[in-house]
Amino acid sequence: MYKRTLITSALPYANGPVHIGHLAGVYVPADIYARYLRLKGEEVMFIGGSDEHGVPITIKARNEGVTPQDIVDRYHKIIKDSFEELGISFDIYGRTTSKTHHKTASDFFRTLYDKGEFIEKTSEQLYDEEAGEFLADRYVVGTCPHCGKDGAYGDQCEACGTSLSPSDLINPKSKLSGSTPVLKETSHWYLPLDKWEPKLREWILENHKEWRPNVYGQCKSWLDLGLQPRAVSRDLKWGIPVPVEGAEGKVLYVWFDAPIGYISNTIDATPDWEKWWKDPESRMIHFIGKDNIVFHCIVFPSMLMAHGGYNLPDNVPANEFLNLEDDKISTSRNWAVWLHEYLRELPGKQDVLRYVLTANAPETKDNNFTWKDFQARNNNELVAILGNFINRATVLIHKYYGGMIPAAGDLSESDKSMMEEVRESIRSLSNNLDNFKFREGLKDAMNVARIGNKYLADNEPWKLIKTDPVRTATILNLSIQICANLAVIFEPFMPFMAARLAEQLRLKELKWDMAGSFDLVADGIEIGSPELLFEKIDDSVVEFQINKLEDAKKKNILDEWKPAQVKETVEFPTFEKMDIRVGKVLECERIPKADKLLKFKIDDGMGGRTIVSGIAKFYNPEELVGKEVCFIANFAPRKLKGVESQGMILSAEDADGRLVVISPSGPVKPGSSVG
Ligand code: 2FM
Ligand code: ZN
Repeated sequence: MYKRTLITSALPYANGPVHIGHLAGVYVPADIYARYLRLKGEEVMFIGGSDEHGVPITIKARNEGVTPQDIVDRYHKIIKDSFEELGISFDIYGRTTSKTHHKTASDFFRTLYDKGEFIEKTSEQLYDEEAGEFLADRYVVGTCPHCGKDGAYGDQCEACGTSLSPSDLINPKSKLSGSTPVLKETSHWYLPLDKWEPKLREWILENHKEWRPNVYGQCKSWLDLGLQPRAVSRDLKWGIPVPVEGAEGKVLYVWFDAPIGYISNTIDATPDWEKWWKDPESRMIHFIGKDNIVFHCIVFPSMLMAHGGYNLPDNVPANEFLNLEDDKISTSRNWAVWLHEYLRELPGKQDVLRYVLTANAPETKDNNFTWKDFQARNNNELVAILGNFINRATVLIHKYYGGMIPAAGDLSESDKSMMEEVRESIRSLSNNLDNFKFREGLKDAMNVARIGNKYLADNEPWKLIKTDPVRTATILNLSIQICANLAVIFEPFMPFMAARLAEQLRLKELKWDMAGSFDLVADGIEIGSPELLFEKIDDSVVEFQINKLEDAKKKNILDEWKPAQVKETVEFPTFEKMDIRVGKVLECERIPKADKLLKFKIDDGMGGRTIVSGIAKFYNPEELVGKEVCFIANFAPRKLKGVESQGMILSAEDADGRLVVISPSGPVKPGSSVG
C-alpha cells in the first residue's frame, strides 16, 4: 500500500498553445485522477509545467525575430491560464527556465558526472561554417531520399513521414545561413542505457505486467531491440549549460532536463519535496502521450537509477493519439482545436469539453474528435440525460414542496433495487478510476443519471402526487439523493457542474465516500432554485467551428501549392499551329444531366460557334454572358453530352483546383488572334 501519490503530467513545449490532443491524451485524465484521489481523502501532489527548452523554440524565435525567452514567456502564460480556466487542478504549474530548475537539472547532471555514470564520446556532426554553429537535426533541410520532396528536416520528412538522419538528406542546407553544412567532430556525454537494461527488464517486464498493453508492449520492444548509450548534451545556445569545465557552448539535451522539471516543480511546491520522490511509501504516476513512453519508462528511470535514492514510477498510463475530423492533429497545418480559442469561443463550456474528451479518450487506440459528435454528446447526453434528470428532480421538489426536501417513507423493493443499481455503478466507477479507465468510468457515472431518469419515468411522481403524497415524497427524496450522488461522482470529470449542483443541494463538501449513500441531503433542507446545468448547442456553433477548420485546410492547400513543372520545350512552329482567338460570350447555359458542363454561344467574328466547357462547378452561366474569353479555334470538334463543341475555352487552374476563365485585360474585337 502507498501513503501518497505524486501525479506528473507531461510538460508541454512552450512553443505554441495546447490543443485538444494534449488535453485528451494527458491533462484531462491526469486531472480526473488527481481530483478522484483528493475526493478519497488521499495525499496528492499534481505537477505540471512548461517545457521551455528544445530546438523548435529556437527556430520559432528565429523566424519571428525575437528571443527564445520571449517565445516561452508568451506561451507559458497562454498555456498556464488556459489550463486554469479548464479546471486542471495542478498543485503547481512551473517552468523549466526557472532558477530552481536550472539548479536542480545542473546538480543532477553533476551528480551523474561525478559518479562516472556518463561516457564521453566524440562523433562527427553537421556544422555550419558560416554561422559557426553545430546544427541540430531540425536546422538541416534538404531533399527527402524517400519521396523526393524538398524541405525535409534532418530528423523527419513531413511530406511522407519518414524518420531521417541529417546525413540521409540529398543536398542538405543549413537553415541558419543557407550554406552546405560540413561534418565536424564534437564530443558529448552519453548515458549508457545498456547498463540499466537488466534492471529495467526486471522492473517493467517482470514487476509491472499490469501496465497498459500499449505501454508495456512499447517498453518490451525497446528492451528486446537492445538499448544504446544516449547523448544527454547538445551543441546549442538555448538550454541549461553543461556544468562541467570545458563544456562551453554545450547545453543539456531537452529530454535530459525536462523530466527533471517534475522534481524542480515539486521543490518549488513544497519544502518537503523529498518525501514525494524518495519515500518508498510514495508512488509516482506519469500521465503522458504515447510518443513520450520511451523517455518516461526507459530514459528517465535510467537517470533516476544512475542518480540513486529516487522512486521509479509506479504506473505510466500513456494514451494514444486523438485525431480531429478524421485527420491527424497538426500544429504546423493549424489542424487543431486550440484550448485558449475554445475557451473564448465557447465560454462556460469547460465541462462539455472535458466530458467529450473523456467519453472519446484515446485510451487503447487512436480516436477521433468531430464537432458533430461534440454537439451530439452535449445535446443527447449532457442535456437530455444528466441535465434533464437533475432538472426534473429539483423542479418537482420546488413545485410540490417549495424547495424543502420531504422525508422519505418506507422503501419499496423497487426503491431498494434502484439504490443497489446506483451502488453497483459507483463500485464499477471506482474500480475503473483505480485502473486508469476513465472512459469506462465516465459511462458508469452517466449510468447513475440514466438510473435516475428511469426511476422517475417508472414511478411518475407527477401523477402520484394526486393520490399518494407519502409515496411521492419518498420518490422525490430518493431522486434528490441520486442528484447528490451525481455531484460527488461527476466532480473529477466535470468540476464546474459538480460545484454548482453541490451548492444547489447545500452539500458543504464533496467526498468520495459519500457516493452510494442516500441520506446526503437531509429532510427539511431548502435547496436552491432549479437551474439548467447544460444547454443545447445549436448547429450554428458547430458550423462556425467546422468552417474554421475548412478555412485552415484551404489555407494549407494554398500555402503548400507549387506551380507544376514546365513541360517539354517546343519550337515556335509547333506553338503557331494552335489558333487561339478572343471571343465574346453571347449565351451560356447548363447542359441537362451534365453537372460539369456549360454550353456557350460565342461571337467569334466569323459567324459564331458553340463551345462546351467543363467549368459549370465554378460559375453561374449568367455571370459569363458578355465576357470576352480566349479559346482554341482549330481544336477538332467533338461531341459532349450530345452537343458538338467547336473549340476549347482557356482557363487557369487555381491552387484549390478551381478553374478561372482567361480574358484579355482590355476590349478586343471578337476573332482577334492571341499569340
Ligand atoms: O512531448 C512533449 O511535449 C514534451 N515537451 C514532453 C516532456 S515531458 C517531461 F519529460 F517533461
Ligand atoms: Zn519524404
